[in-house]
Amino acid sequence: MDFTVLTLFPELISSFFEHGMMFRGIEKKLITGHCINIRDFSTDRHNTIDDRPYGGGSGMVMKQEPLKAAILAAKKRTPESPVVLMTPQGTRFNQEKAMTLALQNKGLIFVCGRYEGIDERITTTLVDEEISIGDYVMTGGELASMVIIDSIARLIPGVLGSPESSKSDSFTDDRLEYAQYTRPEDFEGLKVPEVLLSGNHGKINQWRKKSSLQHTFLKRPDLFKKTKLSAEEKKIIKQWCQELEILVRE
Ligand code: ADE
Repeated sequence: MDFTVLTLFPELISSFFEHGMMFRGIEKKLITGHCINIRDFSTDRHNTIDDRPYGGGSGMVMKQEPLKAAILAAKKRTPESPVVLMTPQGTRFNQEKAMTLALQNKGLIFVCGRYEGIDERITTTLVDEEISIGDYVMTGGELASMVIIDSIARLIPGVLGSPESSKSDSFTDDRLEYAQYTRPEDFEGLKVPEVLLSGNHGKINQWRKKSSLQHTFLKRPDLFKKTKLSAEEKKIIKQWCQELEILVRE
């Protein structure tokens, strides 16, 4: 899957492509990362990429000409890839959207705005989708594009070390991930739950389902309420309630 990022800060993005999971995915040829410096497409000798807003007001707006040329250059390389504008005005990104984009596997061209934003005519004529990573405003779209690329890339088969790793992710099926432990077995008196040392995979699976439900109930009650409980989940919760009742009586 190809990721192209149009930015005024290419070093920010290229360094991201050169590290960790992104680097491994690129090495394995499962993903490709490409950066386009919007300033390379400016048409005057001062390399201008922004201008004052019509109607007055503070800040600067990114000009049309360099942005259009940069988008067209990206489109030429990967014509199938939708053009996505990073903006707090966009649709909120989530795990479901990450899974949809990973499955579509068409690649993505990210436009990272700076300053007060980009000329509206670019948004209406050349942008396929506007995406936000949350209800807050950052100084540019670069961090947002990296958040999105990271969450999609790890879903592409083979990018993560183990194919199981992303199956138990938080938010898959509206549940948070179960508690994880590693050595030592006893850390300053805090012990690993015994069942995880038992080697009994059936029991371990049951425990993990319960832990996932507990995490969701306690940390994200909004998610917990969103989806219906399965018969198995109801049984696990009833058992949990019985355990709590015993504790209260003691
Ligand atoms: N650019 C600035 N803020 C943003 C946000 N919250 N999401 C996506 N792009 C942005």
